[in-house]
Amino acid sequence: MSEALDSGMSEAATTVVQEGDVVREVGRRRTFAIISHPDAGKTTLTEKLLLFGGAIQMAGTVKARKSGRHATSDWLEIEKQRGISVASSVMQFTYDNCVINLLDTPGHQDFSEDTYRVLTAVDSAVMVVDAAKGVEEQTIKLLEVCRLRNTPIITFINKMDREVREPLEVLDEIESVLNIRCAPVTWPIGMGKRFQGVYHLLNDEVLRFAPGEAKAGQEVELLKGVQIEQLAQKAPSEMQNMRDETELIMGAGASFDLQEFLQGKQTPVFFGSGINNFGVREVLHALVDWAPAPLPRETDKRMVQPTETAFTGFVFKIQANMDPNHRDRIAFLRVCSGRYSSGMKVRHRRTGKEMKLANAVTFMANERSRMDEAYAGDIIGVHNHGQLQIGDVLTEGEVLTFKGIPYFAPELFSRARLRDPMKAKQLLKGLRQLGEEGAVQVFEPLVDMTPLIGAVGQLQFEVVEHRLKSEYGVDAVFERAGIHTARWVTCPDAVHLSEFVKANQGRLAKDVDGNYAYLADTRVNLRLAMERWPKVEFHATREHGQQLG
Ligand code: G4P
Repeated sequence: MSEALDSGMSEAATTVVQEGDVVREVGRRRTFAIISHPDAGKTTLTEKLLLFGGAIQMAGTVKARKSGRHATSDWLEIEKQRGISVASSVMQFTYDNCVINLLDTPGHQDFSEDTYRVLTAVDSAVMVVDAAKGVEEQTIKLLEVCRLRNTPIITFINKMDREVREPLEVLDEIESVLNIRCAPVTWPIGMGKRFQGVYHLLNDEVLRFAPGEAKAGQEVELLKGVQIEQLAQKAPSEMQNMRDETELIMGAGASFDLQEFLQGKQTPVFFGSGINNFGVREVLHALVDWAPAPLPRETDKRMVQPTETAFTGFVFKIQANMDPNHRDRIAFLRVCSGRYSSGMKVRHRRTGKEMKLANAVTFMANERSRMDEAYAGDIIGVHNHGQLQIGDVLTEGEVLTFKGIPYFAPELFSRARLRDPMKAKQLLKGLRQLGEEGAVQVFEPLVDMTPLIGAVGQLQFEVVEHRLKSEYGVDAVFERAGIHTARWVTCPDAVHLSEFVKANQGRLAKDVDGNYAYLADTRVNLRLAMERWPKVEFHATREHGQQLG
């Protein structure tokens, strides 16, 4: 077992960090996630990006571990092989002298909380849209999350090798439904069997499409000037359409503007076919050339600049390790400033203790490797035995908390009924730990000892039920509790709050951090409570690690 994290170290960190090194390293980091509706091509694009980045040698590596999103049993089966999915959650590779960190987001909507937290750790996102289907439900939700932080978005319109919708129509849909302006960088010439390639609007060249899985290193054929005219003779109607459409678009003033992109107002759009490696390199170039290097982060005290020499970072994801016999877990920490070096000592904001960080891991597509140094934008994996929770902050001494990693009020509630009543203690322990991981939210009612489990998606319950059994030896069935929603309650007037608590004992529970949550069995009940107690505030979200009230 790793000794990555020891509490109670007393010596001060000794590493001297050079400002110039930090500035240079931060400048070449790009940290992003791919967002899409299931089946649009996220896994395929991830794999192709890794191939181009030289992180994997063979197609199929990422695909092999793709979770069966439609069948619970498949998903659980895959989740059992957690070693692989841990390693694949974060992928680092270099391209064109940039260090690229690709963060995976769970495909299934039932894990949207997890996805949300991952999106708090990135600086940009690539949105994959299926050209035949256009904007789909999950894309809308994920985009909403990105918009909360004005995350810059690069759009990849995939599957142009198929008979798909008219590109102008898809663009219109993105603009109107997602409320983001589109700036096409490439434009398709035909589609399906007649797909010739794309015209690059900024470079005035044609990238010629060749079906089949072209090798990653192989350059696509580039046509310029006269060669483009020759293509117009071979595919006159496709070329004419492309010319008419791009003229229309440019006439409407949709040219790429870096500032608008960085503010999240405009998205550069690329057309391609992930499965055929086509258009992937252009997305990589957009990441390298346009996507932001690690951005400053807001805390409760001040903005933290990525180029500051003192180390700071926050935990955005916890994953149980593959070995259930040793309850160690990996905390995924986004470095926000300074430099991580193996063996450094940091302060754990929540407990106030000092810790030694050693042997943190970085993640490649299908393996983990030791990481000796990391800078803002990088994700490091820290082994621990439950000391680290989502939202926790590690710094080189400064007391601060990063903002914007919320819990959402659950919409589904269950009670765990034990098949073996002797296991009550293990159940509570398991639930608490899974709650800390963010797998579900756990509430302990004030008047009833049975813990309540809250989730936003049904699959979360199934996963927890399965994990309680396999990791904690607890056989429990989850039964729906008749609760509509929860609201965290606070009140500036302590006397008033205790009156409220007294009068509502039967409807109150405490969350993992000891905050009061009001459990409403109907929407009407919640409204009445709010009307009856106007001085009490009811919150639908709360920040991780935040003590309310
Ligand atoms: P996801 O992670 O977003 O869910 O999508 P994924 O990459 O798994 O792609 C979903 C399906 O779309 C896969 O087919 C994949 O092969 C296909 N696909 C991805 N990119 C392209 C493309 O550019 N053109 C075409 N024609 N198809 C594409 P599948 O049948 O579900 O899986 P498989 O049997 O191919 O593995």
